[in-house]
Amino acid sequence: MGVGSRSLFVGTLVHSKSLEELEYLEDIAVFVDENGVIAAIQTKYSKATTEEVDAIFQKLGWAREDVVVKTAKNGEFFFPGFIDTHIHASQYANAGIFGKTTLMDWLNTYTFPMEASLSDAFKAKTVYSRVIQRTISHGTTTAAYYATISVPSTNLLADLCLSFGQRAFIGRCCMDTMAPDFYKDESPASAIADTRATIAHITNIDPKHALVTPIITPRFAVSCTSKLLHGLGALQKETDLPVQTHISENKNEIKLVKELFPDHSSYTHVYDGHGLLGPKTILAHAVHLSEEEVDLVKIREAKISHCPASNSAITSGTAKVRMMLDKGLQIGLGTDMSGGYSPSILEAAKQAHLVSRHVAMEGDDNTKLSVEEVLFLATKGGSQVVGLSDKIGSFGVGMEWDAQLISLGSAADPVEEGLGSVDVFGWESWEEKMAKWLFGGDDRNTLAVWVKGRLVHERKI
Ligand code: GUN
Ligand code: FE
Repeated sequence: MGVGSRSLFVGTLVHSKSLEELEYLEDIAVFVDENGVIAAIQTKYSKATTEEVDAIFQKLGWAREDVVVKTAKNGEFFFPGFIDTHIHASQYANAGIFGKTTLMDWLNTYTFPMEASLSDAFKAKTVYSRVIQRTISHGTTTAAYYATISVPSTNLLADLCLSFGQRAFIGRCCMDTMAPDFYKDESPASAIADTRATIAHITNIDPKHALVTPIITPRFAVSCTSKLLHGLGALQKETDLPVQTHISENKNEIKLVKELFPDHSSYTHVYDGHGLLGPKTILAHAVHLSEEEVDLVKIREAKISHCPASNSAITSGTAKVRMMLDKGLQIGLGTDMSGGYSPSILEAAKQAHLVSRHVAMEGDDNTKLSVEEVLFLATKGGSQVVGLSDKIGSFGVGMEWDAQLISLGSAADPVEEGLGSVDVFGWESWEEKMAKWLFGGDDRNTLAVWVKGRLVHERKI
């Protein structure tokens, strides 16, 4: 990606200070350099004298006229871009279509045929272009994508992310068993060779993985032979690339894993025993993990992608997020589209909030997640899960400008009213505004989105 312009973002910033607390920084100016890195942050900007502002420009060696200024209006705020830690780009055309299925029949009925059909390059280009643009318009600046088993179509997803400017992890899906003949790897060796081919392609188009990174993707233990899992574990060791997979999503799936891997004492042990459970591993779902398994995940420093919309839609269960947080796991949110019906991480955050109340209804009120906590999972938590918490997920000098500009429509203003789906009357506190955004907001509130300082979306009103 080429070098962009220097920018100055002025207005209110909101981001997570901790799991429990959002920070509201009003009257801020953020200086973003041509590489998308935050070079300086000035507080009380409107009160700063011309000399004080000139001093920052001088220190940075920038000329004022070189800088593009974007000012958030009253009632608008900059928020870190959302991080989708688990999404199947190849299933986007099925979003919302799941009937009464649960995991295993959902895979066979809807998912495998759809994914297989994307070996058609034209179809893949159509679907992937749409899913990238759609998720960006919902504020997703980083996505950990599953593509398909097809190398050309997986490579195309990486090309498109790079050209649309979305930060992404791109996984070529590995599955050499328990899959239909029309959609299955020929052998462990061919699956590994194909994974290497996508790694080579992505490293060729983005040598430093500045925006697009390959991710080793065994679909799940059920669809991989032990030989393939060992091979992918060895590949991880060799390349130090991240890994993504599914774990403990559905009770029938867990039973099947027990039957297929009788020598391993749990689903988590299967991945651990194949060298696939480490600090760079993203485990999606983790609905039914035992406390002992959670302890092993913690010891290995593997990460969790919580996918509440999917877990409800395909009837997988309620993940015990509070228990996993209390045990010190790092957790982000995933849409898991199209197990999940929505491309929106704001929707995933809302569903995480509601699902935590279903867990509470089983007896422990402490399991409820707050608005602040689910917005943490959507941003900073996600950045931990994808291993980029020093760069994205919140704002600070030295971090990169992956951000969205949010407007909550004003009930009092007929023009602003058209902007979003939330009515703000003017007397709400920041805490109340964030709750209104979470529960009433959608992509209409997302006015603009930047990745690495580059404008990647602007809402047309
Ligand atoms: N387990 C294996 N494959 C999948 C998938 O595509 N989606 C979900 N939700 N679970 C899976
Ligand atoms: Fe999934």
